[in-house]
Amino acid sequence: MIASGRLRAHRVGGRWMVGKSDLNAVGHRKPGRPSGAGKPKQSYHRRQDWRTPRHLFEQLHREFRFTLDAAASEENALLPVYFTEQRDGLSQSWAGHVAFCNPPFQHTSRWVRKAHLEAQNGVTTVMVLPARPGNKIWQQIILPFYEVRYLPGRLHFDGAEYPAPFDTAVVVFRQRTDDDPPPAAPK
Ligand SMILES: C[S@@+](CC[C@H](N)C(=O)[O-])C[C@H]1O[C@@H](n2cnc3c(N)ncnc32)[C@H](O)[C@@H]1O
Repeated sequence: MIASGRLRAHRVGGRWMVGKSDLNAVGHRKPGRPSGAGKPKQSYHRRQDWRTPRHLFEQLHREFRFTLDAAASEENALLPVYFTEQRDGLSQSWAGHVAFCNPPFQHTSRWVRKAHLEAQNGVTTVMVLPARPGNKIWQQIILPFYEVRYLPGRLHFDGAEYPAPFDTAVVVFRQRTDDDPPPAAPK
């Protein structure tokens, strides 16, 4: 709140000092807690278009050299080539691309199945997902066959007021070699 300018404060030595009236003005919240505990979860699940933090995308883009943003809108596409809800990235071929995908949080399993299918056709997809290793799709597709990079802390998606109320992972779907056990058929 201090950083965003919503709470007035000044520095004394190594500490931030906040006046009582300034604190009252923002509603008696406990220091260090985001306002309206409980809200972040609701808003994160209501909206489907949180943007990937720029630093995370840039870091992955340097490594993978993406050519397709598979889940985007005209406003938030991260690459010149992208699919939108209207064109439906799930029903398009991703062949010939290195895909980046931060899917809408609803129906993430559809996107996992799609990336799994595309991997069998040689497409590498890097996907940002809520980390839910206990879920069926993680147990059946992600964990047995693909690289998972759990991200430290809670990711603060661009455009969101708060960090996500869930852990996040980057999953790398790549074509498998003959030495790998065969991937399970998506259900
Ligand atoms: C979580 S946002 C990702 C935005 C941005 N590409 C990024 O990574 O920062 C997911 C985006 O996918 C779009 N979307 C929803 N359904 C889609 C579909 N079937 N095909 C392609 N994009 C879709 C949403 O409109 C939303 O803009």
